[in-house]
Amino acid sequence: MPTLAPIRIEYDHPHSNKVGAKISTEHAWAKVLNEPTPNERIELKAKIKRLLKEQNAVLVAHYYVHPDLQDLAEETGGCVSDSLEMARFGRDHPAKTVVVCGVRFMGETAKILNPEKRVLMPELEAECSLDLGCPPDEFNKFCDEYPDRTVVVYANTSAAVKARADWMVTSSIGLKIVEHLHAQGKKILWAPDRHLGAYIQSQTGADMLMWQGSCIVHDEFKTFELEELKKKHPHAKILVHPESPASVVRLADVVGSTTQIIKAAQTLDATEFIVATDKGIFHKMKAAAPGKIFIEAPTAGNSATCKSCAHCPWMAMNGLANLAEVLANGANEIHVDAEIGSRAKLSIQRMLDFAKGLNLGAVLTQAPGSNRDGVGPA
Ligand code: 13P
Ligand code: SF4
Repeated sequence: MPTLAPIRIEYDHPHSNKVGAKISTEHAWAKVLNEPTPNERIELKAKIKRLLKEQNAVLVAHYYVHPDLQDLAEETGGCVSDSLEMARFGRDHPAKTVVVCGVRFMGETAKILNPEKRVLMPELEAECSLDLGCPPDEFNKFCDEYPDRTVVVYANTSAAVKARADWMVTSSIGLKIVEHLHAQGKKILWAPDRHLGAYIQSQTGADMLMWQGSCIVHDEFKTFELEELKKKHPHAKILVHPESPASVVRLADVVGSTTQIIKAAQTLDATEFIVATDKGIFHKMKAAAPGKIFIEAPTAGNSATCKSCAHCPWMAMNGLANLAEVLANGANEIHVDAEIGSRAKLSIQRMLDFAKGLNLGAVLTQAPGSNRDGVGPA
């Protein structure tokens, strides 16, 4: 499969599991795909549609992958969604094969929930800096030091980390679950995203001991430049994914998962939005709220780096060509150790049971300046 030169990515790796310990920088790689030509695109799409039928397979895609894959998933009866809905959809669909267009933890979650199904991914090396920055052996040591804490982990982790957790959460439900645990007097050990953890902590007041990971994409949104942009667009509402730094989250009108901020764009009484998340989301956001104006939150600034493009390099490794290839030859199947999988399933299932009956698409707007004082959503 033709690819350009791989790109080198730096990500945060907590040096030690001690609170306030230093964070070191590690390196990973992503491949850059060639865009198919218009003719290749038509041929590949037709081939994928045929193979999906032949293989009794369904596509489950995240909002950050290429618009071609999002469109194909919808056109063929699959889904495009956030990580919670992706997990639910694959589990509830009768197809024998689930093809996950996203990053590896999403494929692993699908496999853990559907051990009897075949789960394929266009690219097995599609990582996530949060997952990479939370190695299971170091995480286990961290948990061992704090046996009195309830272990809550973000979906963006390996199966082995989920297997150690009491609860797995996604960004659409993390706040509600921690609120629930806090109300029961539980102290939390949280991993791996320090920004999402800090946001949840500020909203719930829960006692949370944090792993210090971060998302390389959301970490790049810049506060000063966002304030300047807002001055130029005073009527724009600011929509922020909570993997962003606290200073960016404080400027938000709405903080939420990918689905929740798309909903906000659709339902809020505003015509202009500044959006701080991966730019792959604009495809669905524009379709959900036609006629509205969407502006990318700034990533460029004094400390900008080559990764400041607001697009996840690992999500970008999913393309039409590698999707067609795995459907044709059955390669890139996800396997999860049965013992780890059955333990990980408990923490995921707890979240899914909790999610039943909740309206997770609800838009949580912040009163102006409320988050600056650590006050919860209005
Ligand atoms: P969502 O669950 O909000 O889609 O987030 C997944 C993710 O990886 C965001 O970077
Ligand atoms: Fe992970 Fe960030 Fe990519 Fe989401 S955008 S998959 S959190 S690296």
